[in-house]
Amino acid sequence: MPRQFFVGGNFKMNPSSRDQTKSIINILNSADLDSTTEIVIAPPSLYLMDVKETVRSEIQVSAQNCHHKDSGAFTGEISPVQLVDANIPWVILGHSERRTHFGETSEFIAQKTKAALKATLKVILCVGETLEEREAGKTAAVVQKQLQAVVDVLQESDWSGIVIAYEPVWAIGTGRVATSFQAEEAQLDIRTYISQSVSPSVAENTRIIYGGSVTAANSKELSTQPDVDGFLVGGASLKPEFVNIINSRLT
Ligand code: 13P
Repeated sequence: MPRQFFVGGNFKMNPSSRDQTKSIINILNSADLDSTTEIVIAPPSLYLMDVKETVRSEIQVSAQNCHHKDSGAFTGEISPVQLVDANIPWVILGHSERRTHFGETSEFIAQKTKAALKATLKVILCVGETLEEREAGKTAAVVQKQLQAVVDVLQESDWSGIVIAYEPVWAIGTGRVATSFQAEEAQLDIRTYISQSVSPSVAENTRIIYGGSVTAANSKELSTQPDVDGFLVGGASLKPEFVNIINSRLT
C-alpha cells in the first residue's frame, strides 16, 4: 500500500486573534482540497476547540505539545488524556523550537511520545539538525540520536501512530528551504535507520514528511521525492497558499 500523503499546518503562536484564525479556517473550508491527502492543522491550544468545531470534517486538528502525565500539578500544561477527551487526535512533539527554547531533550520527548500514544493520540514527531551539525557532516548521526531515544521506549506496534517530520533547524522560518536532494537524502537515511532499528515493515509504512520554509513555490518539486511523504508547514500554513501546498501533487 502506498503511504498516504500528509500535510500538516503548524500555526505556532499565530495568528494573534480569533478573527484571524477564523479567516484561515474559512479559506480552508471553501477550498478544493486533494481528497487523497491527510490534512492536519495545529493551532495554539487556546484555539483548539474553536477550530475543531468550525473546520471541515476532512481536516483533523492537532495540539502543538503535551505533557507526559495524565493530570496533576503542572501549571500551564495540557495532558494527552485531556486532548483525547476533547477529541483532538494529534499532537506535535519534539519541535526544534521546543528543544531549543524550552530545553526539551530527546529523552523527555520520547517520554511524551510514549504517553501520547498510550492515550491514543497520534504523534507528529519532529527531528532535525542545526546548520553547524550539517556543515560538520553530522546530519544523519544527529537525527538518528534524536530518533533513538524514541525507538528505545516504543514497541514496534506503536509506530503506526507516528509521522516523522524531518525539519532541519536551518530551514525553519528562514526562507532557506532544503533542496529536494537534501530532503530526500536525509529522509531516506531516516527510513533506513527505522528499518534497522525497528523493522523493515515499520520503515515502509511510516510517513516521513519535510518541514522548513515550505511554500507553494517549492512544494511541488519536493513532493516528487520518493521518501518525502508530505510536509509540516509553518509560516505558509497561515496563508492562502497553504491550499496549494496541500494540493501540490495535483497538476
Ligand atoms: P516554516 O514553514 O515557517 O519554516 O516552519 C516550519 C516548521 O517549523 C513547521 O513545524
